[in-house]
Amino acid sequence: MDNKLIFRLKQFYTLETFQVAFYNAQSNSATDEYYKKAFEKMVEIEQGHADYFANIIDKANEEVPSVIGSVLQLAGSFVGETVESIGQHSTCKFGVTLENEAMKAYRKFIQESKEQEYRIIRDILMEYLLDEEFHTYWLREYMNNHPN
Ligand SMILES: [Fe+2]
Ligand SMILES: [Fe+2]
Repeated sequence: MDNKLIFRLKQFYTLETFQVAFYNAQSNSATDEYYKKAFEKMVEIEQGHADYFANIIDKANEEVPSVIGSVLQLAGSFVGETVESIGQHSTCKFGVTLENEAMKAYRKFIQESKEQEYRIIRDILMEYLLDEEFHTYWLREYMNNHPN
């Protein structure tokens, strides 16, 4: 496995782990049952994504990156406040920002894997891109219906 691919896989693992942490914090602090469930579902999906990348990294005998420090703090630093205190609207908005970053990265990686003919990984990447797109639609819809 070439170094560029390993680098990408590690980058995606980190990106996905960050999303897991952010959505997990949301579902843990949420009181609204439906909202909580939505974030739980997203955590499940993102965890699946992270596990997929961790698994290939591991199989290639490379080290799975340890996400150091509090990812939550990192997530909080993006919005300038602690994650728990930003409210549903801002949470969804920040979630959309994260998803946008992820989608951009996925599209780029999909293109790269087309050039390199990584057929199996490309198929998975497209599947995950769709997951991120669905998340974005949900978050955006929820955000628009809950202006505060
Ligand atoms: Fe993801
Ligand atoms: Fe997502």
